[in-house]
Amino acid sequence: MIEVQHLTKRYGPTTAVDDISFRVEPGEILGFLGPNGAGKTTTMRVLTGYMPPTEGRAVVAGYDIFEQPIAAKRRIGYLPETPPLYPEMTVRDYLTFVSKIRGVPRAERRARVNDVMERTRVADVAQRHCGKLSKGYRQRVGLAQALLHNPEVLILDEPTAGLDPKQIIETRQLIKQLGGDHTVILSTHILPEVSQTCQRVVIINKGRVVAIDTPDNLTSRLRGSETMYVQIDAGANGAVQDALAAVPGVTHVAQTESRGTVASYEVNSDSGRDIRRELSAAVVNRGWGLLELRPLRMSLEEVFLHLTTEEAPHE
Ligand SMILES: Nc1ncnc2c1ncn2[C@@H]1O[C@H](COP(=O)(O)OP(=O)(O)O)[C@@H](O)[C@H]1O
Ligand SMILES: [Mg+2]
Repeated sequence: MIEVQHLTKRYGPTTAVDDISFRVEPGEILGFLGPNGAGKTTTMRVLTGYMPPTEGRAVVAGYDIFEQPIAAKRRIGYLPETPPLYPEMTVRDYLTFVSKIRGVPRAERRARVNDVMERTRVADVAQRHCGKLSKGYRQRVGLAQALLHNPEVLILDEPTAGLDPKQIIETRQLIKQLGGDHTVILSTHILPEVSQTCQRVVIINKGRVVAIDTPDNLTSRLRGSETMYVQIDAGANGAVQDALAAVPGVTHVAQTESRGTVASYEVNSDSGRDIRRELSAAVVNRGWGLLELRPLRMSLEEVFLHLTTEEAPHE
C-alpha cells in the first residue's frame, strides 16, 4: 500500500532523511518511532506530497506521489504535526469546508462531518471556533479532517501529542479501529505508544532506519541479544535467509532491504555469543559476496535511550 524507496531529504547542508526504505502492507498500522529530530515529520511531509524528496521515490496506494500527486493525495488523509485549522471558523464549518475541498459529494457532506465528529469525539465542540479549542481538541479536529474523505491511507504525525491520558487512550483505540480498513503510519517518540497501537515499527534515528520489526521482537532484541547487520550479494540465490538462520547461535533473521541481487539482513543471536566468524563463513563458503558485516546493537540501544518512556502529556 505504501512503498518508500531510498528516500533522502536534505535541507541545505542538513540531511534530515538519509536513504530510507520501507513498506506498509494494506490494513497495517505502522509506527514510525524515533527521538526528536530523527526525521519523522520530514518523511511524512514527503510521503504526503507536501514537499519533494532530494532523492528516492514513494508510491502510495499504487500512485507515485510525485508523478501522480492528485490521484495519490486523494487516497491520503494527513494529520500534520500542527493541525491546519482556521481559527475564525467553527469546528462544523471547518470540517464542512474541508469535505468540500476533498470532493465529498454535497449530499453526503453533512453525514460525513457528523460521522467523523462522532468518531473523534469532537461533536460537543461543533459550534466552537477552532481558535478557541484546547490542544487536545485541536489535535482531534485535525484527525477528523484527515478522515473526512475516507482515505485508504492515513499519515498521522504524533497524533497523541498534547492529549491528556484519557484522550490518549481514546485516540489509540480509534486508530486501532481504523487499521484494517485503512493503512496507517503514525509517528511517535513515545515508546509504549508503538507496542499498544502498531503491528510493526520502523525505528529511525538521525535520518536513518535503525530497525524494522514487530514491537515484541524489538523488545526481545533489546533484552539481551546481539544484532548484526549483514549485506550480501547472493546472485540469483534466494535461500540466504535460511542459510543465515542455520548458523549456530542465530535466533532471528530479518531482511531489511534489497536492491537487485544485493540484500541486507539483521541477524540476532544470543547475547554474549560472537557469531561473526560462523556468519561470514556461511556466506563466503556458499560463494556469495559479503559486502558488509557490523554490529547494530548499540544504535538500537542509543535510540531507545533518547526516546520518551513516559505516558504523560508532553510538549
Ligand atoms: N524546514 C527545515 N529547514 C531546515 N532543517 C529542517 C527543517 N525541518 C526539519 N529540519 C531538520 O531536519 C531534521 C529532522 O527533523 P524532523 O523531520 O522534524 O524530525 P522529527 O519529526 O523526527 O522530530 C532535524 O535536524 C531538523 O532540525
Ligand atoms: Mg516531528
